[in-house]
Amino acid sequence: MERLQGIRACVFDAYGTLFDVHAPMRKLAPEIGEKAEEISRLWRQKQLEYTWLRSLMGVHADFWHVTGEALDYALEQHGVDEPGLKDEIMALYLKLDAYPEAAEALEAVRARSRLTAILSNGSPSMLDAAVRHAGLDKLFNMVLSVEDVGIYKPSRRVYRHAMQKLQIHDAPAICFVSANTWDAQGAAQFGFQSVRVDRFGLKDDRIPGKPAGLIKDLSELAAIV
Ligand code: 2OP
Repeated sequence: MERLQGIRACVFDAYGTLFDVHAPMRKLAPEIGEKAEEISRLWRQKQLEYTWLRSLMGVHADFWHVTGEALDYALEQHGVDEPGLKDEIMALYLKLDAYPEAAEALEAVRARSRLTAILSNGSPSMLDAAVRHAGLDKLFNMVLSVEDVGIYKPSRRVYRHAMQKLQIHDAPAICFVSANTWDAQGAAQFGFQSVRVDRFGLKDDRIPGKPAGLIKDLSELAAIV
């Protein structure tokens, strides 16, 4: 994709972009069986659905709570009720694997004197645990959670919050990076220069907002910011 102009900061989505949300189920697949992958997909789908529904309902709960309720749904839907299994899976969500190229990609972006931040639905404690476990804690100028705003992405209030915290008052000076179509498109609609990490071979959603371009993984980012 074309090089972006005027970028001062790269702001990253966390789950699905920096961290592999399907790692916990892969690790426990020997115990759960061949349904593990389908349960993981349903869990992720419900986790995101619940963030959007709660935001529309105006009944906020943090991402740890929502992630737990979504897991309850997915396990029940597949008839899995092994005592203690849910807690074991949730504990793994605090220690998600970072994608292999993430650390080097962040270092390369920072070497170009760009600020780096996370802007995520994750609660502060979830993000702190994940960033530290992955050894990424020294690679961000700040880690921002929607908990500061009380509503989930793609609410404009969340993207605006990142501008305020970074003290960047020109939206296109921020490159927003996400593997989640709706998040990359929500950020583009807000006014960021948005780059979608095309990890899963997805098309853009039929909603407002179009990313400036796609990269296959984070290693391509430094060359375009
Ligand atoms: C995040 O906000 C969308 O789950 C993704 O990190």
